[in-house]
Amino acid sequence: MSDINMSETPLRLAVLLSGNGSNLQALIDAIESKQLPGVEIVLVVSNNPNAYGLQRALKHALPAIYLPWGPANVPQKTEMSENETRLTSLLRLFQVDFIVLAGWMRILSAPFLEQFPRRVINLHPALLPNDGTGSTYTTKDGTEIPVFRGLRAARQALDAGIKVTGSTIHYVTPEVDAGPVICREEVAIEQGDTEESLHERMKVVEHRLIVEAVRKLNRRDAITEHLPYDKITEH
Ligand code: GRF
Repeated sequence: MSDINMSETPLRLAVLLSGNGSNLQALIDAIESKQLPGVEIVLVVSNNPNAYGLQRALKHALPAIYLPWGPANVPQKTEMSENETRLTSLLRLFQVDFIVLAGWMRILSAPFLEQFPRRVINLHPALLPNDGTGSTYTTKDGTEIPVFRGLRAARQALDAGIKVTGSTIHYVTPEVDAGPVICREEVAIEQGDTEESLHERMKVVEHRLIVEAVRKLNRRDAITEHLPYDKITEH
């Protein structure tokens, strides 16, 4: 991957997605309206040929690639999958600096992630603690809630009967939904909320957060790639 140049060279993002791509759209809109100076989306990859996110990319003349991936699997701990080798070649070909997982529904292995230290971020529709680990989170009003990881986190929050959940942007580590936090925001659960209504409100927040996270990554003071995960303090 190319080194980050703070001033002249734009930050080259790849966005990986599997579906709708509303968060990709938020990034496209922010770039086009000059809210993210010095940032470019140079590649959009989907493991799903029917992902609407691919159409969004093409409408804005962004390179959009369907990368067949096969069924969701538990990645190997010791070596990259063939899918990941192909993805790596694409990322290098397009000289990507940072990878944004925006609704990407495939787990990435440790050997894959080791190639791009501190350069892969993910959106997760739940609140994660600062270092990403642990099983509880304390909300602003002092309530301790469980940390929801994996699929259908909005559903998990509703089932837990809590009053507040939220969305988090975090660095990706081999443990799923457990990396250090870049930014996050609480979202109140309203009476009568369904999984869909709650997730829709969370997405409004995510669209703001993803832009904020990329802005942070593009700032000189946010370059933390050589620090171990537990030294990150940028919240
Ligand atoms: C987001 O809610 C994100 O939190 C989750 O997947 C969803 C993707 O939404 N990881 P979209 O495809 O960007 O609309």
